[in-house]
Amino acid sequence: MKLGKRLAAVAAFAAEGVNIADIGTDHGYIPICLAQSGRAGRLAASDVNAGPIESARRNARDAGFEDRIELYLADGLKGIDGSFDTIIIAGMGGELTAKILSEAPFDLAGKTLVLQPQSKTEELVRFLYARDMAIEEGGIVSEAGKIYVVFKVLCGKKWDYEPNDGEALIPREVRGDALYPEYREKTAAKYRKAILGLRSADAPDAGGIERLEKLIREL
Ligand SMILES: C[S@@+](CC[C@H](N)C(=O)[O-])C[C@H]1O[C@@H](n2cnc3c(N)ncnc32)[C@H](O)[C@@H]1O
Repeated sequence: MKLGKRLAAVAAFAAEGVNIADIGTDHGYIPICLAQSGRAGRLAASDVNAGPIESARRNARDAGFEDRIELYLADGLKGIDGSFDTIIIAGMGGELTAKILSEAPFDLAGKTLVLQPQSKTEELVRFLYARDMAIEEGGIVSEAGKIYVVFKVLCGKKWDYEPNDGEALIPREVRGDALYPEYREKTAAKYRKAILGLRSADAPDAGGIERLEKLIREL
């Protein structure tokens, strides 16, 4: 199976894991790809909805890995046991990703997370900082006109710095990526537009404008 760029980046960050669980798997492509690599130990695919689990089952069967991938119909991390060293949560909003992690039914310390928030990255990053879950490395991927951040996190590790607002949106650890200038520009453009909106109001919110200008400088 050949993954698209976004999922390939997620799978690459998870590839060093031993027992790997993909939460919110949908199609199951990531665990199927990891099964194909032949390096992983246990592989689990979990989803809160039955349709995606059936689709993952079908895709795993078609790829010849039905017996290789454990499938769980469950909310967040509640279906899997605590023996998975690497947990993937990709394609979900940052808030939902943080909620799933906060409701983990086992201790996450020492575990590796591979996260690819679809939105609200800043909320997820702030959550990770508060919980001593440090981003170790990351990257930026562009696919079908959209741009995504992916990062690998070690749970139980304190951050070396407190991310400012700009760093919560684009963490330092992804800024070495060749796509960083493009991503920074796209993100800044969104906030410049918001500033224009604030400026055109009858009573412009000077504090809000200042905050956004500072955020743009931090990107
Ligand atoms: C947009 S899809 C992403 C699929 C895949 N991870 C990817 O990146 O392409 C989100 C998936 O997460 C599942 N999902 C949403 N909330 C969830 C939760 N609380 N626990 C587990 N899965 C959830 C949905 O059913 C859906 O299949």
